[in-house]
Amino acid sequence: MSYQTKLVKIKKTNNIKKLLNEETIKFGAELLRKGELVAFPTETVYGLGADARREDAVKKIFEAKGRPQDNPLIVHISIDYNLESLLYSRPSTLAMKLIDSFWPGPMTLIFKKNNIIPDITTAGHATVALRMPSHPVAQALIMAAGIPIAAPSANSSGYPSPTRAIHVYNDLNKRIPYIIDAGSSQVGVESTVIDISGEEPLILRPGGITREEIKKRSGLELDTKIKLNEGEAPLAPGMKYRHYSPDTKLKIIDINDKDSYQEYYHKNAVIVLTDESANKILNEDNLKIVKMGSIYNMKQIAHNIFDILRRLDKVDIDIILVEKLPEKGLGEAIMNRLHKASS
Ligand code: TXA
Ligand code: MG
Repeated sequence: MSYQTKLVKIKKTNNIKKLLNEETIKFGAELLRKGELVAFPTETVYGLGADARREDAVKKIFEAKGRPQDNPLIVHISIDYNLESLLYSRPSTLAMKLIDSFWPGPMTLIFKKNNIIPDITTAGHATVALRMPSHPVAQALIMAAGIPIAAPSANSSGYPSPTRAIHVYNDLNKRIPYIIDAGSSQVGVESTVIDISGEEPLILRPGGITREEIKKRSGLELDTKIKLNEGEAPLAPGMKYRHYSPDTKLKIIDINDKDSYQEYYHKNAVIVLTDESANKILNEDNLKIVKMGSIYNMKQIAHNIFDILRRLDKVDIDIILVEKLPEKGLGEAIMNRLHKASS
């Protein structure tokens, strides 16, 4: 299916009532209700939405992105939505604690599902990933549509997630009918995915809400389930695929260990550094340097990282070197993406 993709701008405002009256939102909601795809901004990255209850609509997401069918989607709901209508049983005390502390916001929770959400959306899993985004434009769109919206990141499968509407356009032009542009996504990395469907809550994907914040605001100290034991099915099935990768080779380097990157001095390389490291390194070796933000402001780095990878991928270079960051706070999510992009 080929579309003439429409990209429309909307002014971000926190006034949801006002947004609900915007033609842009009404038109997007109408498309969603008709089983069509709409790309929209969230606080993490741009999403590619479709009616989560409709097989025919969700199928279009997989086709447009080239996404493997066994990778389940996150279902997005509005703040006024009856969460329980999608669940197998009432949310647990633990679930309510996380919801009260972090919704709406960049946290996805995995519940046992009932049969409203079909197999195609959850890739046959008995669980459903739910998220209540905090971006007012996402909220207004989902509320106006009045339905749960399945939405992966709106990139072509395997490529870095889109943090700007133009990223979506570059990847999905002609493949989708409509993109709503509300400027760059503030957080810049995807939501934290937590499985609360089993005995013990586990982080499946580090993201916009850090484990430190979870501990601070809910008292919970969560383990991570990312590494697979042999023969074990991956818990966040998406984690096994090529992910977040620019076409250009990417390598993580330790800036304090010159041996780890010296060999690239003679190559056509670009080195992505924290502001502090960039200011320290004398550019006598003719390395091309791109700054990603301050080491003391991981939010800034998270906000910039996917845009930097996408921009560098357009330049004619052999390799992108990225400075290794401490895996603390948001650094954990950023490094998780960089490790995948480099493998
Ligand atoms: O911030 C975000 O989460 C963005 C925005 C658009 O909301 N969405 C996003 O979706 O990152 P996606 O499809 O790119 O990543 C969803 C992740 C995948 O790793 C997938 O395997 C996992 O969530 N997931 C979804 N449903 C699951 C389930 N039932 N069980 C385990 N993992 C699940
Ligand atoms: Mg994605």
